[in-house]
Order: sequence, then structure tokens, then C-alpha cells
Amino acid sequence: MHQDVKEILVSTEQIQEKIISLGQQITNDYQEKDLLCVCILKGAAPFMADLIRQIDLPMEIDFMACSSYGTSTKSSGEVRILKDLESSVQNRDILLVEDIIDTGLTLSYLVDLFKGREARSVKTVTLLDKPSRRQADLVPDYFGFQVPDKFVIGFGLDYDEKYRNLPYIGVLKEEVYNTKIT
Ligand code: XMP
Ligand code: MG
Repeated sequence: MHQDVKEILVSTEQIQEKIISLGQQITNDYQEKDLLCVCILKGAAPFMADLIRQIDLPMEIDFMACSSYGTSTKSSGEVRILKDLESSVQNRDILLVEDIIDTGLTLSYLVDLFKGREARSVKTVTLLDKPSRRQADLVPDYFGFQVPDKFVIGFGLDYDEKYRNLPYIGVLKEEVYNTKIT
């Protein structure tokens, strides 16, 4: 275990097992559809990479990067697009791939955005869900694990851009961060 990690919440084995089962569910649900998996950068990249290899269907992938407006303590729910898709979403079945849903403001903004762009369907899959912090009325269509209201790192999730490469989900030791995290 990394020296900055206090405890492991979800192990590598648990993550891989879950991704296999999510891939099977998605494969079943997207028969005869026009699936476009959209990775929300950067955090969802490791999850996306493993998930798509468990989806046994013709499909495409694309990438999007965004940041939310507002102060660190108060999110406005408005999202700035830093990198948009290359693909058209019109009449396609969009699956948004996230690392974690916290307030849900980012993902609900993106769901509405893609519906406005006339996608045929928009669903969401997230590796982690923190339902206790939800502000937007958003329930993921697929999720890996529910986590408590702790700041988690690893498998794409960062603190100050670090730890994304850890192959498990862990809780950071308090002494590592002295700035306020919301
Ligand atoms: P929402 O809009 O659902 O935002 O509040 C989700 C985004 O917030 C970040 N986030 C975290 N990142 N550990 C992280 O590394 C966490 O515990 C955590 N909680 C929220 C993350 O970028 C996610 O995409
Ligand atoms: Mg982050």
C-alpha cells in the first residue's frame, strides 16, 4: 500500500470483478443500439479503458474534459467544456463514463447537454457513487461501488493531480492534505 494511503476502500480484485459484471450488463442492454462511450477526463480514463474491453458489441469511444464554475465550497452547477467531443451525438446512444458522482451537478449538466444535442438516449455509468452528497436529482444507470463521504484517491481519482495511477481506491491520510477539500 502507498505510504500516503490510510485505508483501502476497494481493492484491485473487487474493481476488476465489478467491471466485468458492468460490461456484461451494458453488453446486454445495448444490443441493436448505436453505443458511444464518452469518457469524462481525466479521472474516468482508467475505468473507461478497462470497461470498454468488457463490452462485447460494436461501439465507439470519445473523450470530454470539463470543469465546474464556482468557488471550491459552492458549485454553481454550471460546467465549462474544456474539450468537446469529436463525434456527433445525434440519434446515438450515449453512455457517459465517470469516476465518481458526488453532488451530481457535473453529470446532470452533461446529460442535459447531450439530450439537447438530440442524442437518442443518454445514460451514465460511474465507478464510484457518493450518494450522501447529492444535490442534483441524478441516479446513475450503472455504478460500481457506493463510498462514504471521504476524499478518495486512486484508479483515476486524484489529490492535486497525484495518485491517479494507484490500482485501488483508497482514503488519503489527513496529514497529506492541509488545504480544504470539498
Ligand atoms: P460532482 O459534480 O458530482 O463532481 O460533484 C464530480 C467530480 O468531483 C470530483 N470528486 C472527487 N475527486 N476524490 C476525487 O479525487 C473524491 O473523493 C471526489 N469527490 C468528488 C471528481 O473530479 C468528479 O469527477
Ligand atoms: Mg478530480
